[in-house]
Amino acid sequence: MSNYIFIISTLFYLLTQLSSAQSESTLLLPSESSHTCPSLNPSLNYRPVIGILSHPGDGASGRLNNSTNASYIAASYVKFVESAGARVIPFIYNEPSHVLQQKLELVNGFLLTGGWCKTGLYFDVIEDIFKKILEKNDAGHHFPLLSISLGFEILSMIVSKDRNILEHFSASNQASKLELMENINIEGTVFGRFPPDLLRKLSTDCLAMQNHKYGLSPEKFQGNADLHNFFEILTTTADEDDKVYVSTMQARNYPVTVSQWNPEKNAFEWASNTIPHSEDAIQVTQNVANFFVSEARKSSNRPPKQTVLDNLIYNYSPTFCGIAGKGYDEVYIFT
Ligand SMILES: *[C@@H]1O[C@H](CO)[C@@H](O)[C@H](O)[C@H]1NC(C)=O
Ligand SMILES: *[C@@H]1O[C@H](CO)[C@@H](O)[C@H](O)[C@H]1NC(C)=O
Ligand SMILES: *[C@@H]1O[C@H](CO)[C@@H](O)[C@H](O)[C@H]1NC(C)=O
Repeated sequence: MSNYIFIISTLFYLLTQLSSAQSESTLLLPSESSHTCPSLNPSLNYRPVIGILSHPGDGASGRLNNSTNASYIAASYVKFVESAGARVIPFIYNEPSHVLQQKLELVNGFLLTGGWCKTGLYFDVIEDIFKKILEKNDAGHHFPLLSISLGFEILSMIVSKDRNILEHFSASNQASKLELMENINIEGTVFGRFPPDLLRKLSTDCLAMQNHKYGLSPEKFQGNADLHNFFEILTTTADEDDKVYVSTMQARNYPVTVSQWNPEKNAFEWASNTIPHSEDAIQVTQNVANFFVSEARKSSNRPPKQTVLDNLIYNYSPTFCGIAGKGYDEVYIFT
């Protein structure tokens, strides 16, 4: 009996200790607390929309669609844009040009993708869109362009007014370093907000995915006044034969960034084993996407909501073609 009482009283003692301990421990609440949030910067657009131009073909050498007017956008570019807080409107390159013009009024920035086509309607459409983007900026409407891989090559051809400005390089399916130019100010460029540690690793680790047979040499760049008056070189890269090519450029007077490498692949493409997927490599993808979309937030264009919804890429579904173990993982096909 006395044992029983002892257990009961011990339990009672422990319980009172427990509850008093709870009431005595002070919660360290933040000194200020209110339900109001600071107002947003009214000069920024927090609902940016990015245009992406489709490329001829199905993106899978006929495995998905042989239609002669088929074109595609690799979903990795769409995810890249979405991951930084923007939505995408597809620009189907063989749509009537008045449709493409109308779509340009719905977006706050533009992305040109990789691919292989450097001639014909596709080239002409890019030339036209590029001209319109420069005009918008000249008129005081901030409108950024990020031009990747083939996009780098085509803009080099357009700006230099020399369709033979490119040379052969051995940079197919290769992760590479990016060497920052000396004596440049990276503030305001794509590398401006890279954490210092990650910026250093660009030149020591292989964090940039390259997949191209052509490129722009620093000599050709320097030898073409139109090109070096328009662009500044940010980085160069050595190919497999240690031949150096220009890997990133920034327009001197426009929010136009061109990269010969593919920032979107690190996080969103898996077929090739050479694509870097380390945490640093993913941060490279994220930093480039954040930079680009932050530029698009500076656009003052506020298109009608419903027209935007009617044109968003969510009106289409991507196809999983990575099941074949090669090529892009997912593509949007337009026919
Ligand atoms: C496209 O054509 C090729 C060659 O004729 C054929 O092998 C392939 O299956 C076709 N693709 C589709 C999606 O029908
Ligand atoms: C592929 O092309 C055919 C015509 O050859 C078309 O009917 C079909 O809708 C296309 N498929 C896709 C996914 O676009
Ligand atoms: C592609 O071709 C099909 C018929 O072959 C046509 O219905 C469609 O409108 C064409 N699309 C474009 C964008 O030209």
